[in-house]
Amino acid sequence: MTDLTHEIKRRRTFAIISHPDAGKTTLTEKLLLFSGAIQIAGSVKARKASRHATSDWMEIEKQRGISVASSVMQMEYRDCVINLLDTPGHQDFSEDTYRVLTAVDAALMVVDAANGVEEQTLRLLKVCRSRNTPILTFVNKMDREVKEPLDLLDEIERTLGMSLVPMTWPVGMGKLFRGVMDVQNDRMRVFRAGADRVDDADEVVEGLHSDTLAERFGAEYDKAMEELGLLQDATPPLDRQEFLDGKQSPLFFGSAVNNFGVREVLDALVQLAPPPGARVAQEREVQPVEPKFSGVVFKVQANMDPAHRDRIAFVRVSSGEFSRGMKLKVTRSGKEIRPQTVVTFMSQRRELVEQAVAGDIIGIPNHGTLQLGDTLTEGEALNFTGLPFFAPESFRAVEIKDPLRSKQLRQGLQQLGEEGAIQVFRPHAGGSLLLGAIGQLQFEVVLHRLKSEYGVEARLENTRFQLARWITCDDDAVLQKFIETEAFRVAWDVVDAPAFMAAHHSELQLAMERAPQIRFHAMREHG
Ligand code: G4P
Repeated sequence: MTDLTHEIKRRRTFAIISHPDAGKTTLTEKLLLFSGAIQIAGSVKARKASRHATSDWMEIEKQRGISVASSVMQMEYRDCVINLLDTPGHQDFSEDTYRVLTAVDAALMVVDAANGVEEQTLRLLKVCRSRNTPILTFVNKMDREVKEPLDLLDEIERTLGMSLVPMTWPVGMGKLFRGVMDVQNDRMRVFRAGADRVDDADEVVEGLHSDTLAERFGAEYDKAMEELGLLQDATPPLDRQEFLDGKQSPLFFGSAVNNFGVREVLDALVQLAPPPGARVAQEREVQPVEPKFSGVVFKVQANMDPAHRDRIAFVRVSSGEFSRGMKLKVTRSGKEIRPQTVVTFMSQRRELVEQAVAGDIIGIPNHGTLQLGDTLTEGEALNFTGLPFFAPESFRAVEIKDPLRSKQLRQGLQQLGEEGAIQVFRPHAGGSLLLGAIGQLQFEVVLHRLKSEYGVEARLENTRFQLARWITCDDDAVLQKFIETEAFRVAWDVVDAPAFMAAHHSELQLAMERAPQIRFHAMREHG
């Protein structure tokens, strides 16, 4: 194996998905602790602040700063290099999360044991399922009075439509939480509260069929053994291929805040989660171990320093190796760049990258050369596919107070649109620009950013449009004719893809019936 292949094979790139408050931040902190990557007391607090920041402008600013610093965390654990990608917790930014999920090879789902599967988890999980992303499941907060583990297992399997294979099983819960049985290794890890200890200090009792355990943990032990007995008959053993296909998910129980049951998850992550896989481009499938570099922009964060209009494009390295100063070509524009100050995100500090390999994430500062979905290569004309844009669910028309600033408004909206902060539509028949969002909060953030970053005071007005569908057709002439006929209901997005706009579903339905050759899409995939 060459050095490059070896480096790539030891990458594990994943994201944690969960409903807000399930324990993602806490778990992230513990994972970082294990890998020895941190010292992060401060950053966890900062993230907490950001969670409550939904209406406070200053806080939104802070949140953007924080989210870049903690967008990607790289750490070493055992023989692996782990890239953990952060996903925004608030569901109004879920579009951003969907795109982050296109850049990972596996996901860790955190479920609050008291609440079971919650809405946001379900939405995110559907994205993973549609991409066959392997998923590990961690049931958190066993130190509380929670749902019965068998009921939880049943609920998760039913709602998520995949089978779970318990790797650990809880003994008791709440005040009577005694620990977890490590089914694979036939031993029990005894619970002890406390966040600071490393888990090497945990007491581990070998052999689950043990009189000592039975005596010591009485009813909780008996119940757990009985449940395990039932499960052994009912659940198949873990099949790595089924896991890799996203059909089976290894299941773990624990308490993140107590740093308990976390190490098992991390171990499973390095053992079971796949190294970087092949990526699909329009032209061909690209293998990670190909020697030439290629990568795709899956996230853009703009104006970190408003004075310089800088942006950071987050690039997932798809193949080969990146080294500083190397010349890269943007397929869309044909432009060449030679990034010097590429950053990575070691233990939450931005650090200059000398080298990164397939599976890693690099951040390239730029002034608008790089857009969401862009493919970068050493010269080959590749276009990676699969970056999703979802049809917005609410719309506003944007007006400005000072008409002399309309150029700045257009420029600002173009850039915010390219960043994916909001979707911007330009009506075919002219008139005010339309903004489309998945979540209400996106509008507020955009108004704020227009003012602070572009000096534009904008106002949002209601519009009659409630939904949009991107339109395509095999026959260009038919599409053009449709656009002209429906001129007042067609608008163009930031990449000049046409969309049909409607006030309600019946209007859409009617248009679909009238124009059977036109295809209407609720999602646009880049490329
Ligand atoms: P999130 O990122 O998914 O939104 O969740 P986060 O980690 O911030 O955790 C949400 C809350 O749940 C926090 O409490 C956290 O302390 C608590 N928590 C996380 N893991 C566990 C666990 O294993 N057991 C218990 N009992 N609680 C857990 P908070 O009250 O919001 O904050 P704090 O005051 O505790 O810091």
